[in-house]
Amino acid sequence: MEEYQAFIQKVHSKTGLDLSLYKEAQMKRRLTSLRNKRGGFRTFDHYFDAINKDQTLLQEFLDKVTINVSEFYRNPSRWSVLEKEIFPKLKAKKDKIKIWSAACSTGEEPYTLAIIASKFWQTTEVDILATDIDDNVIARAKQGIYNERAVQDVPEEMKERHFIQQGNTYKVKEYIKQCITYKKHNLLADKYPTNMDLIVCRNVLIYFTEEAKNSIYHHFSKSLADDGVFFVGSTEQIFRPEKFDLRVMDTFFYTRK
Ligand SMILES: C[S@@+](CC[C@H](N)C(=O)[O-])C[C@H]1O[C@@H](n2cnc3c(N)ncnc32)[C@H](O)[C@@H]1O
Repeated sequence: MEEYQAFIQKVHSKTGLDLSLYKEAQMKRRLTSLRNKRGGFRTFDHYFDAINKDQTLLQEFLDKVTINVSEFYRNPSRWSVLEKEIFPKLKAKKDKIKIWSAACSTGEEPYTLAIIASKFWQTTEVDILATDIDDNVIARAKQGIYNERAVQDVPEEMKERHFIQQGNTYKVKEYIKQCITYKKHNLLADKYPTNMDLIVCRNVLIYFTEEAKNSIYHHFSKSLADDGVFFVGSTEQIFRPEKFDLRVMDTFFYTRK
């Protein structure tokens, strides 16, 4: 067996993370560069022995694999479609809204959702499940503290209303935090929640193989409530959505057929 494949199997047994479902060329390039940077590990065999023993190296490896970059209002024009087109339609049908921010990273996405949803519903009527595979990002998301750069795309009025500024940091107000429940969830292995009025899953599916993506789309489709909406990332349009019982509502937004 090729050395990298053996490495993937050992990582799967140790961490439950199945790297064979992530695009191989891209992942192998990232991990080879990390392994070489750490010096002394000429092969993936040696590198596995090291991460198997050293918690710090293991954490560094997991951080590299999971790619945690996020932003408030990432790709602002899409959030504008959510606010102007999608939420008004959902509001007409739903007194309360259940949202899932899947692969939520450090919280910018679920907080953006809570801020925009609060223009349509009382915050007590907004129930957001925010999940990620990575415990570290979930811990940071729960704190809800960001620097000035992170909040630069938050409209001024929303920043003033929903954040407490302390020097150069911005803390999300408690009533916004209370809309959100954070939970660890692996999109490639765990059971999917159901009855979601809106599922947001952005900038993670690009890392997965076609086979893994197809399986995830089937799961998401089943997780939607009647009239539920699925919101994807800016380079993540679904090829032939009808295969998953979905139809296009607007670019990057789908609903069940
Ligand atoms: C680039 S961030 C995207 C964050 C946010 N959705 C956004 O668009 O700004 C990708 C996130 O996917 C998470 N992730 C990677 N593999 C995952 C998996 N198998 N299940 C759940 N989350 C995963 C990573 O931990 C990371 O936080």
